[in-house]
Formats: sequence, C-alpha cells, structure tokens
Amino acid sequence: MRKFFIAVIAFSLSVAALAQASGIPAYLDCTKPIEDRVEDALSRLTLEEKVGLIHAQSKFSSRGVPRLGIPELWTTDGPHGIRSEVMWDEWHQAGWTNDSCVAFPALTCLAATWNPDMAALYGKSIGEEARYRNKNVLLGPGVNMYRTPLNGRNFEYMGEDPYLASQMVVPYIRGVQSNGVAACVKHYALNNQELHRHTTNAMPDDRTLYEIYLPAFKAAVVDGGTWSIMGSYNLYKNQHVCHNQYLLNDILKGEWGFDGAVVSDWGGTHDTAQAIANGLDLEFGTWTDGRTMGKTNAYDSYFMADPYLELIRSGKVGTEELDDKVRRVLRLMFRTSMSPDRPYGSMCSPDHYAAAREIGVEGIVLLRNEGGVLPLDLTAPRKVLVVGENAIKMMTVGGGSSSLKAQHEISPLDGLREALDGKAEVSYARGYVGDVNTGQDGVATGQNLADGRPADVLIAEAVELAKDADYVIFVGGLNKSWHQDCEDSDREQYGLPYGQDAVIEALAGVNKNLVVVNVSGNAVAMPWVVKVPAIVQAWYLGSETGNALADVLTGRVNPSGKLPFTFPVRLEDVGAHAVGEYPGVKRPDEDVWDEKYNEGVLTGYRWHDTKKISPLFAFGHGLSYTDFAYGKLTADKKSMTESETITFEIPVTNTGKVAGAEVVQLYISDPKCSFLRPAKELKGFEKVYLEPGQTKTVTFTVGRDALSYFDADRHEWVAEPGKFTAHAASASDDIRSSVDFTLK
Ligand code: GLC
Repeated sequence: MRKFFIAVIAFSLSVAALAQASGIPAYLDCTKPIEDRVEDALSRLTLEEKVGLIHAQSKFSSRGVPRLGIPELWTTDGPHGIRSEVMWDEWHQAGWTNDSCVAFPALTCLAATWNPDMAALYGKSIGEEARYRNKNVLLGPGVNMYRTPLNGRNFEYMGEDPYLASQMVVPYIRGVQSNGVAACVKHYALNNQELHRHTTNAMPDDRTLYEIYLPAFKAAVVDGGTWSIMGSYNLYKNQHVCHNQYLLNDILKGEWGFDGAVVSDWGGTHDTAQAIANGLDLEFGTWTDGRTMGKTNAYDSYFMADPYLELIRSGKVGTEELDDKVRRVLRLMFRTSMSPDRPYGSMCSPDHYAAAREIGVEGIVLLRNEGGVLPLDLTAPRKVLVVGENAIKMMTVGGGSSSLKAQHEISPLDGLREALDGKAEVSYARGYVGDVNTGQDGVATGQNLADGRPADVLIAEAVELAKDADYVIFVGGLNKSWHQDCEDSDREQYGLPYGQDAVIEALAGVNKNLVVVNVSGNAVAMPWVVKVPAIVQAWYLGSETGNALADVLTGRVNPSGKLPFTFPVRLEDVGAHAVGEYPGVKRPDEDVWDEKYNEGVLTGYRWHDTKKISPLFAFGHGLSYTDFAYGKLTADKKSMTESETITFEIPVTNTGKVAGAEVVQLYISDPKCSFLRPAKELKGFEKVYLEPGQTKTVTFTVGRDALSYFDADRHEWVAEPGKFTAHAASASDDIRSSVDFTLK
C-alpha cells in the first residue's frame, strides 16, 4: 500500500512539474487549487478585460477573455427547465430546432412533495439539461416566501415556511452543481410580489427579515454552497437590492461568507456608485442609453461598463472593489466553464421524463375526498366526463421568464384518456373559456382554444353530459397569463377567474361524483368546497402533467403531497392583507411604494394559528388513499441545556388497505416567551413510506436553533429558557401528539 501512495504522489508531482515545465499558466492548470488559478488569472488581466468580465455582452451571456482563452459565461432561465435559445439581445426565441426541453413541475409542486430526495433528483436532472446545452449558470431556483396568494410568481417558489424551503432548496442546488453548472438562487431578497416589483421598498422589521425572509437564502449559501445568487428588483432600506449594502455586503458576504457571484436581476441595476460599493458582481439586462429598452449596442453603456472604467481612469475610484468582483466571476468560471471534471449532461432523456412524472406525482395534494370518491373505481366500464379549459391548455408556455419550449406536454385530458383506455369512456366539455393566448417570446403553443360560445351555453353543455356520467372531473384553476400565475403581474382577485365557480356549482348539482382538480401555483377561494366531494391540488406539472394526474386519480399511485402554503378562506384572512400594507403606499413625490410588513413573523399558518382563523386548507395538509395512525410522541429527556439536543420519537402506522407515504411534521411551540412568537413553527419533517399494517418510528433530533427567535436588538438568535412543547402532526391544523420539555 505504501508503494501505491508513493506512486500516486510521484505521479501528481510529475503532472504538476510537467505542467509547470510545459509553461501551462497556472490559471489553466487544472491541478492547481481554484484560488491559485483565480489569482493567476487576475494578475494577467488588463483593466478593460476586468471590467468586461463583470457585465453582460448579450441578453444571457457575459464576456470571457478571448486573449487568455477564458470562455464566455452563459446563463439560462429557468427554475423549471432550460429556456430555448434567444436572439443575441432579445427575449424572443432564436428559432433553433435543437433546444426543446423537458418541462419539470413548478417548484411549488416540488415543495409539496416534502421530500428532499425529490429536490436532489430535480436538481440533478435539470442540471444535466443545462450542462448538455452548455449553460454555465441556471437562473434558479426561487425561494421567495409566499406572503400573499396574489403574488404572480409564487408558482416558481417553495411556499410559505422558511424551514421547508430551506430543506428543499439545498439538495436542488447540490444536484444542479454536481453537473458543473452554477445555481443562481433568486430573488434575493424580499421579492414577495410582482406588482410594483421594481419600485417596492420592502419594509419588514429585522426580526421578521431574519426569521422568515432570509433563512431559505442562508441555507442555499451556507448549506447548499450556491455558486451564484440573484439580487431582486425591489428596494430594501431605500436601496435597490441588486446593489444593497445591508443585504449583499453586511449579510450575504459578511455574515454568511458567500464567496460566489451576485448577479443582478435583468434590469435591476440603477446606479454605478452603488453597484461598485454595494456588492454587485455581474450586471445583466440593464436598459441603457436613456433607459431605452434593450438597445443592441448598449453593453458598453452598462452601469458597470464604460461609466465604471471612466471613474477608475479619472482616479475617482480605485480597483479594490473591481478586483473583488472579478475574483468572484473568475471563481464562478473555474467552478463551471473552466472546470476540468464536469460531466457531459443529457437532455430529454427517459430518466428526465421519469423524474418529472415522479416529482409531479409526489407533489399532487389530495385536499378532500369525502366518501372515497377517489381513486376512480374502474372495476366496471365507466363514463367519465372531463370539463374545463385547464384539461387541454398548455401551461409550459407563458408565465414570464420560466416559460419553456417543451419537447412535449401531456395534457390532463390526454393523460386521462390514455390511462382510462379500455376502462372508461372519456368525453370532454369546455365548461368555460379563459385565456386563448397562443405563445410567449415566439414560442407558440400550437393550440387554438378560441370558442365563441357564451358562458351559459358552455355550462349547459357540460351539465347535460354530466347528468349520466359516472364521474365528472373538472380541471380548472389559474394559468400562466397576465394577472394569473405570471411574472410582472399579481392577481387582482382571490377567487377563480372566468366564471369557474358557476360551472363547478352547476356540475355539483347534477353529479355526486364530482372531482375538482385545481391547477395553480397559488391558493384560490373555493366557495363551493362543501358541495364538491373530491378536490385535488395539481400544480403546474410540466411535460408529464397528464400522466402524473392520471396516476393519482386512478390510484396507480397513492397521493402523498402536502400543502407548502395555506389556503385561506378569504383574502382578509391573510396577514399581508389584514394588516400588512399590500400592495404598498406610494410616496407622494416619487415612484417608490413603501410596504411595511406589519404582520411581521406571522405569515401563513403562523398568522392563522396565532389569530385563531381557520383556513380553507392548512399548511402541511394532504390526504392519502390510506390512513395513518400516530402513537405517542416521546422525548429522550425532560429538560435540556442550550448545548444539548433533544430527540423525539413517534410510531406511525399505516392502518389502511394500500401502501402510502405520510409526511410526519414536527412543530415547536414556545408558550411563554418575552416576545410575541407564532403559536408553533415547523422544525422538522420526514416522509415515511408504509405498507398496509406497517409501523415505523420516526425520529427528530433538534437543538437550540429550533427553539430560538431572532433578537433584533442583540442581533442574535436567542433561545429563552423555560417550557417548550413539541408537536407531531399530519398538518399544521392536525396535531396528533405533543410532549412538553424544558430548556434550562
Ligand atoms: C426576469 C426575472 C428573473 C429572470 C431574468 C432573466 O426579469 O425576474 O427571474 O431569471 O429576468 O430572464
């Protein structure tokens, strides 16, 4: 063995010597540590080359250093799949024919799986598609907290709870970066709405910032090791976040030690001096030359381009900040485009379609199933009527920057027809007409959904067919059009659009086996909830939509998803709307909207629990086709010190007839605290798969972090001694067993 090690050392020394001898410069010598390569490259760059590295050269790329053989850096949207190639300086697709991708489920669906293994699978798979397309930075995932059900981009994020999002974002990042592709976690931070997204001055208090809005980003940096992060459009403490002393310098790079590159959101840079001093490293998408949109020769006019060069040449600023930015960009390059051991990726592979389907199936949430209407009983030939525009409408196109040119997208109707082939006669009725848009950025849906019939005719047609159907499956919800689940706009109402409530009420009146499938990335009002026996939250499921939905409705797979955000009964039941100042208050003399987050840490279930407001469906809620019994929650100690951990155990049994998975949730309460604290907070979860009759004991071990709140005055996390209670729950409103313990 000794000889072996000597041989290995001798070999590596010889390679290094050979490299040195053959004059390979250090920055190109892959046997060298990255930091050595960074310093060597930096030492070789001219001032112009340094400035060229820190801003875009096209819509989605930044310059390399041609003279030194340092390649360009290519970024790509988005969080759900790899965007089609666009024209050099346009959002419009370039019309290539080799860039159709797999559309994975939206990140709300991933969060709804409550399964970090699914996040790892997701990150690996989408990272392989990015790698195969030779992209170096994937502009995702998004982990902004769900603060209002009206936010147009909630579908791109991972719900309302910082702990759930923290647990799910880390494996996604690691999966992406295992391909030598950087994740670019976004939108850091406080981009919690789309209305006035460039001009909202978000105003959470410090405690709320640290307890609710930062944790998922901190996990992405500290645990996930993300190589880049995207600044958000909004302002915080009156500074645009893409160049923000507090969020970028003090917290991200200071407290968290982030060593990657801060990328601006596209058009998020507004000031050269601030961009230099306040932590921006890569400027993309700036509207330049008098703020005209997208002038093709505009890149030298970027805030961190000629204007920056001018300040340096005139001696007004030094090059210290520039060198820090360049180091971070070079580090990003050596981790990606210049990494020696990257895999080669893959695209549109059977594995990726299988992953999309598996994540979709695991994320679908069975909200209600009175009388066991689901799964469909196909033991005899059935008549199944499918109603609704969302049963046929493509959802992978639209919604803003996450829009995709999917290689295929199986609609709910097509998926059901295939799954029920030979078992049921499937018919279809439109039910309502919503959005007949046919594309985005030159990517066409190829669908013509136009239908001039009036609403009452559409309803009458559906009702007539529903009268003698064994099952009616209404597939509705929202879509990716303006003021629905769509970037750069928020919804203008909490209820379903396009008169869907009337259709659902009418169908409920004539068929007792009505199933409502809600396709959305947001909660919606359900005034008809007690009249509909079965309700399924189906998310945007991507390429495998119809197959994943059919898998659950037919019972081929037992649903195991849980809600990653609360469904309030009405908008006023949401803190951001009850007290929170959404959408903000416009300043009299400037285009800035101040928005105090008056609800503070009481977002989502934290608000409902503390204000004792019953939700329509609770955070963490999700039914199964089987039942689970929980035993007694026990703790391995009655009291603990700050430096100790405490371990909880609870047996869970599948008491039903089919195998299934249950997400066991651990919440912690701090009933006596000198600060107002939420009634309880999620501090652990585990998804357990159980055969009928099987019992597993689920274990949670937590330390002081799970007991702490953020004391803004002391600027530190504090766990106050005293009594705490741990709860094992099947949902935030379904606590099964609790146990008290004391922090000494
Ligand atoms: C958009 C989005 C961001 C996206 C970027 C590039 O405005 O805010 O999420 O990655 O610009 O399309």
